[in-house]
Amino acid sequence: MLVTLKELLKEAEVEKRAVGAFNVPNMECLRGVIQAAEDLNVPVIIQHAEVHENLITIEEIGPLMVAYAKNAKVPVAVHLDHGASLTACLKAIKLGFTSIMYDASLKDYETNVKETSELVKIAHSVNVSVEAELGEMTNSAIAGGEGRESSLSDFGNVDLFTNPQQAEDFIEATKVDCLAISFGTVHGKYMFEPKLDFERIAEIRSTTQRKPLVMHGGSGVSEEDYRKAISQGIRKINYYTYMNMAAGDALKKKVINNSSTEIFFDELSLLATDAIKENVIQALKIFNGL
Ligand code: 13P
Repeated sequence: MLVTLKELLKEAEVEKRAVGAFNVPNMECLRGVIQAAEDLNVPVIIQHAEVHENLITIEEIGPLMVAYAKNAKVPVAVHLDHGASLTACLKAIKLGFTSIMYDASLKDYETNVKETSELVKIAHSVNVSVEAELGEMTNSAIAGGEGRESSLSDFGNVDLFTNPQQAEDFIEATKVDCLAISFGTVHGKYMFEPKLDFERIAEIRSTTQRKPLVMHGGSGVSEEDYRKAISQGIRKINYYTYMNMAAGDALKKKVINNSSTEIFFDELSLLATDAIKENVIQALKIFNGL
């Protein structure tokens, strides 16, 4: 069943859990994520990141995402992740996405407010939800991450974290449905164990009248940290790198163990789907308090 992000966040708020949001740049991810959510009977978000246009374009994967969401036995929101331009957001809306992220977090604050507000007006007029970002999320510099590459000094640098007072002003001015915040997670594979600033989540929740908050760089975080972040008000968790690595590991084992026989690609595709599904099931169980 295709639903909006706003509806999913409202329920997650009541039930004090987080909705898992998974990037699906291929059929293995798309099928694995939907199967995992259906097996657990929990809602889910499937998302296309603009930085994955080199893997597959939104014109190719978008209609499939919408079709899978409509046919799913659980509520599914279809979301554009890190939309960088008005054009990309409008394209997603035209394809039937029910939610968009407009990410102007690397622009100056006034521009972020102005452009995000304009997008919110357009998106809300056609019942599409909007996520925006404040503060700076970096990339672990290992292949697979999103955003700009970070240097070692960026890691855990509180100057890049979201400012709670600015978050209050931003929400008031833009009317976004949820806010991605920077509090210690990074996109991609973690080179060090992240030290998350849980107090900052609580502070931002209090300055923004309990706005649903979003964790990016969600895969690779410990179970304890997920639970703490959810208890402080994280309601959407973006997740990709570690499910991608789970599929890679499964295929590596298969190829190494069968190096002297033929390997058929369709078998590998199913193996990857199952590995992604298993990894996503573990994550969804934690996010949904199961
Ligand atoms: P990871 O790939 O680090 O899990 O992050 C995903 C994400 O934040 C997508 O926006």
